[in-house]
Amino acid sequence: LKYFEGVSAFSGKKVLVTAGPTYEPIDPVRFIGNHSSGKMGVAIALELASRGASVHLVAGPGVKLPVHAGIMVSPVATASEMYKVATESFPQMDIAVMAAAVADYTPVNVANEKIKKKDSRLTIELQKTKDILKELGSKKKSDQLLVGFALETNNEKANALAKLQSKNADLIVLNSLQDQGAGFGHDTNKITIYDNTGAEYVYPVKSKVAVAADIADMIYKKLHA
Ligand code: CTP
Ligand code: CA
Repeated sequence: LKYFEGVSAFSGKKVLVTAGPTYEPIDPVRFIGNHSSGKMGVAIALELASRGASVHLVAGPGVKLPVHAGIMVSPVATASEMYKVATESFPQMDIAVMAAAVADYTPVNVANEKIKKKDSRLTIELQKTKDILKELGSKKKSDQLLVGFALETNNEKANALAKLQSKNADLIVLNSLQDQGAGFGHDTNKITIYDNTGAEYVYPVKSKVAVAADIADMIYKKLHA
């Protein structure tokens, strides 16, 4: 059915997608990062582009970048760079899908020189980064659709619903880490989608490509609701 709704279902739609990790520098040779591969966000970008959307993909470091005529890529490194590119892009967009694993904290100071090994303990002071999804949620116009992700290890449903509400998203995709072979570093994912009317959609473990199609279908449904 997907193919018959098909290649033009998203034509004329502009979509912002964030993907991958961010790297927060400590000194010229070190950073704080995370295990996100960006595969889920890239799969969503490709799925929407293949259905006719113009996609602006803002991708963190190490993400294997897709090549598709419908995808423009902005590579970024840090949470603050991702924030800048995403917030500047969002006013021109119809849809935003925030699949990136953005660092929640970044070093207060970045050392100019490599930090030398000295004492047995080292403390690095961190400060909170700006929440990109929350910022887009606060700026969202009534004709824009905002999709967030929630990565949880406990109290999944309550935490996901709290994020949906506090960030003013229209859909939140809960990523379950509980199931084997799903999530970080895997090619499969197990998701549940919640929408802003309280509906819950549970999906089985699938390839990230198939999960991207489910997310695209749900976005399509929301746009035409
Ligand atoms: N997000 C974001 N900018 C940040 C942090 C998170 O845009 N600085 C987005 C993520 O891309 C995701 C959603 O917010 O779409 C939820 O991310 P998650 O890490 O699950 O939640 P947090 O709000 O960061 O809360 P916590 O990590 O404490 O659970
Ligand atoms: Ca977080």
